[in-house]
Amino acid sequence: MTSLQSGGLSLRNLSKGYALPGRQLSVLNGINLDIEGGSSLAIVGASGSGKTTLLRILAGLEDPDLGGVTIDGTPVRGVGTERAVIFQEPRLLPWLTVLDNVAFGLEVRGTPRTEALERARHYIRLVGLSDFAGVWPRQLSGGMAQRVGIARALTVQPRILLLDEPFGALDAMTRLVMQEELVRIWCEEKVTMIVVTHDLEEAIYLADQVLVLPKGDGTPRLIETNLPRPRDRTSPAFVRQREALLREFGLH
Ligand SMILES: Nc1ncnc2c1ncn2[C@@H]1O[C@H](COP(=O)(O)OP(=O)(O)OP(=O)(O)O)[C@@H](O)[C@H]1O
Ligand SMILES: [Mg+2]
Repeated sequence: MTSLQSGGLSLRNLSKGYALPGRQLSVLNGINLDIEGGSSLAIVGASGSGKTTLLRILAGLEDPDLGGVTIDGTPVRGVGTERAVIFQEPRLLPWLTVLDNVAFGLEVRGTPRTEALERARHYIRLVGLSDFAGVWPRQLSGGMAQRVGIARALTVQPRILLLDEPFGALDAMTRLVMQEELVRIWCEEKVTMIVVTHDLEEAIYLADQVLVLPKGDGTPRLIETNLPRPRDRTSPAFVRQREALLREFGLH
């Protein structure tokens, strides 16, 4: 099998439900989707529609009830080094400096310290924090801490970056800056990016394709964004995409 770029995912008939007291809750109902290596996908949907559940399955933190996921043709079983996950909170280790937080993932995998630090410095530079390598997590702003989280995820050189509401805890201005940064990093690193967000504008700004999860038994919808980059949030094409996405939710 030939693939132009690694990090491609296939989801086949992916289904997941949970047993709640007195009833069975069906969350994901037979999702089929191909995600090209190096592309970006945003997952949107109402609260409770299963966005986090889907991301956790892709991360290997949760098993589907039915169906499965393959990465470059290999079935996903549990977590793997080709995937890195970024949550809403960066979860930095408070007793380590920024540099050591970023190097940590490599060091636990046995990378010699000098090499780990060198790679960590490279990614700290990539997220624009070279002047803060020696500081403690408590001395960072929310946006800076999330950048450290991104650098830490990238140092282990994953093929796939999975993000669950990565900027959900940030103020609106910082959020816009971080979206730009993330697109720049995604272009430079050529990773596949899958990002959960409830912010429709963020979804269109970041992603090549937007997966809209229905709440309940409906069928998920896939929308191609097809806008030139860098994306201009004020352009008529962008605004039209946003309106189309709002209509998916019955809002205008
Ligand atoms: N471990 C679990 N046990 C039982 N039910 C669960 C579990 N995890 C999630 N659920 C249920 O699955 C549904 C989907 O949850 P999920 O966290 O995936 O939603 P979400 O789309 O990420 O929502 P939000 O936008 O609020 O983060 C919810 O109804 C939730 O109650
Ligand atoms: Mg969620």
